[in-house]
Amino acid sequence: MSNVILKNVKKTYDNNKTVINNVNLEIKDKEFVVLVGASGCGKSTLLRMIAGLEDISDGEIYIGDKKVNNIPPKDRDIAFVFQSYALYPHMTVRENIAFGLKMRKVDKATIEKKVQEAAEILDLGEYLDRKPKQLSGGQRQRVALGRAIVRNPKVFLMDEPLSNLDAKLRVQMRSEIKKLHEKLQTTFIYVTHDQTEALTMGDRIVVLNNGDIQQAGSPEEIYNNPQNTFVAGFVGSPQMNFINGKDINLDENIIYGIRPEKMNKPEGDIKLTVNVDISEMLGSEKIAYFNIGEQKCSAKLDADYNIGKTLDLSICSADLYKFDAQTGLRIN
Ligand SMILES: Nc1ncnc2c1ncn2[C@@H]1O[C@H](COP(=O)(O)OP(=O)(O)OP(=O)(O)O)[C@@H](O)[C@H]1O
Ligand SMILES: [Mg+2]
Repeated sequence: MSNVILKNVKKTYDNNKTVINNVNLEIKDKEFVVLVGASGCGKSTLLRMIAGLEDISDGEIYIGDKKVNNIPPKDRDIAFVFQSYALYPHMTVRENIAFGLKMRKVDKATIEKKVQEAAEILDLGEYLDRKPKQLSGGQRQRVALGRAIVRNPKVFLMDEPLSNLDAKLRVQMRSEIKKLHEKLQTTFIYVTHDQTEALTMGDRIVVLNNGDIQQAGSPEEIYNNPQNTFVAGFVGSPQMNFINGKDINLDENIIYGIRPEKMNKPEGDIKLTVNVDISEMLGSEKIAYFNIGEQKCSAKLDADYNIGKTLDLSICSADLYKFDAQTGLRIN
């Protein structure tokens, strides 16, 4: 079993700043969980605490039902893949992948077998005798993954492993890491600040903000059923439109939310005309930007839509999200 359980986990650094408030999370065996949130929200801290690279200030962490609070990183059965691949420049790919096993005094034949297996899984066979500087960024990242694979860890921890790659390669490596997860059938905990990466990769997404879990759920749940304005605004591109309003029945201030792709539904029961500030052609679609009252909003339209100076919006009231203006919590 390689489930990971966090119970009331807190982290305060020496300067007394609390960066993880009180995190409770249960990650199932073989699950691919993505921790996502803005820079500084505590993603790396959380991952490093699971790895044992950072002490926890309070709470308990279990890996495979064993409490690991006092177990050093090397005995936690985890492998960590960093943003900077941290390869040894003077060693070949083969030596880089084998390094951890050699340090653990694993016998030569086993090492060779494991390196071959990893090279096959990652399609690195023809590069084994090269040095890292003779590889592309994507190939280097695969070597870093190879080094993790040969250890047969119970849990893979990855901290923004793709952020050094160009956009195209990043998209390609996303699906390679997904495939790797299918192949290895083990638990993956993956950190990113990129909501698209989170939506496309995770079985489950955990949205963090200021050291708190805002919401955890499948990509569909997070996108279709955000529990507060933070999650609603963080996930989705362009982001959800927010419009301040009043609930006519209750006379309370609320925030209406509507996704940009829901602004032009022919069957809509709410009609309004806006002045277009600017529009963007993205190939498969067009985005129009405009104001509704004080709020900056956008609409996602078909690529062949002819955007003029004004735009007639047509919205279904059923597509509106409602949030409490004070707390930001979802109320419908
Ligand atoms: N060793 C440290 N001592 C004091 N404060 C720290 C230390 N490491 C991190 N922090 C602070 O803790 C907070 C969370 O940092 P963390 O690295 O976990 O963020 P992150 O979500 O991974 O951000 P990024 O997306 O930029 O990598 C930040 O405010 C950071 O300044
Ligand atoms: Mg980080």
